[in-house]
Amino acid sequence: TDEALYYTVRTERGKHRFFDEGVNTETLGYNGDLLGPMIELPAGKTVYINTINQLDEPTSFHWHGLVIPGEEDGGPHHSIEPGEQTQVRLDIDQQPGTLWFHPHPMGATAEQVYLGLAGLLYVTDQAETELPNEYGVDDIPLIVQDRLFTDDGQLDYDRQMNVDGTVGDTLIVNGAINTTFDVTTNMLRVRLVNGSNARNLDFSLSNGKAFTQIATDGGLLDKPVSLQTLTLTPSERAEILIDFSDLSIGDDLALQADGIPFTTFTVRDEVEQDGEWSDAFDGTSAPNESSVADRRLTLFGMGNMVSIDGKQFDPDRIDINVQQGSTEVWEIYNREDMMGRMTHPFHVHGVQFRILERDGNPPPDNERGWKDTVAVAPGEKVKIEMTFRETGTFMYHCHILEHEENGMMGQLKVN
Ligand code: C2O
Ligand code: CU
Ligand code: CU
Repeated sequence: TDEALYYTVRTERGKHRFFDEGVNTETLGYNGDLLGPMIELPAGKTVYINTINQLDEPTSFHWHGLVIPGEEDGGPHHSIEPGEQTQVRLDIDQQPGTLWFHPHPMGATAEQVYLGLAGLLYVTDQAETELPNEYGVDDIPLIVQDRLFTDDGQLDYDRQMNVDGTVGDTLIVNGAINTTFDVTTNMLRVRLVNGSNARNLDFSLSNGKAFTQIATDGGLLDKPVSLQTLTLTPSERAEILIDFSDLSIGDDLALQADGIPFTTFTVRDEVEQDGEWSDAFDGTSAPNESSVADRRLTLFGMGNMVSIDGKQFDPDRIDINVQQGSTEVWEIYNREDMMGRMTHPFHVHGVQFRILERDGNPPPDNERGWKDTVAVAPGEKVKIEMTFRETGTFMYHCHILEHEENGMMGQLKVN
């Protein structure tokens, strides 16, 4: 049917149990004390989301990865005041994929995300039913974040102390330290989200075996890619399939990040999956023919001295103007020097893009899918190609949230 869908998302202050010892940690959440609901966005549908801010400070609701007009994008210009509510209208018209939403208010994005504000958006499509897709059974999200806790169990956030981002010593997954999951199918689809403010995560399995990456940030890969390690920088997502058919009932297998196990899977039942999941891939390769860059952007610096093209964010300045419907190639250069050697996850609002080149070479197979965030290593030049389908003002920025706060962000206007 053509009926619209309606959701409500409300920011709340809460207390969350991370530890067994009875400590309550002060947190922020959407419709609860931490993180948020998974919001399903079926392709082709119109979705209305009623957004309510119950915090005592301004926030905004940014739909990361959605191709929607600038007016609905929820960037820093769309501050929602304490007690205020507004409704956004989202016309869903893109590939199925694992997206997320988070706050984006000026100067408070990094802290609000750190304290717990992040939720999932699944763009879905009837066409991808060959893949495991039973939510919570053979298709699960894992939002992985690193956190620092004080001695009394509170989230320790100090932006001035951590100008390149707060890197924690504790991994939390879907809001818990060490999670377990009972596996009842041969094949499990895991939607990984690096929801960290600043930390890159290297994912692997505890038995060293390979898993299969099937999707990037904004959609399925053209063909599945077998990997033993997968690195996601902040805000990157990937969908992977883990094959349990070699294991027996009672066996454990853990997913780990940087060698630290964070989710333990226990085989409870061996149920044959029906359907041939590889039918979901058409095998046509991504359009990654390289071409001359229309624009070059230079990322530079560290800490408070971060910039894009030598400039820091100014909400009253439009840095790039483009025409609606145009396709552009951008070359993103991470200029390193003695003062700046960091990988910057570069993100553009309102589009999904393709990676054409990394330092003159084609991207690795597992980056040949729709992306909205791309890691740019020190000294590296990465070419991306995107079409600006929606009008309005959009941000592009480093997704190390503290870099974004420190001004590593520019504005793009689609006219
Ligand atoms: Cu995750 Cu400006 O966004
Ligand atoms: Cu975004
Ligand atoms: Cu950065």
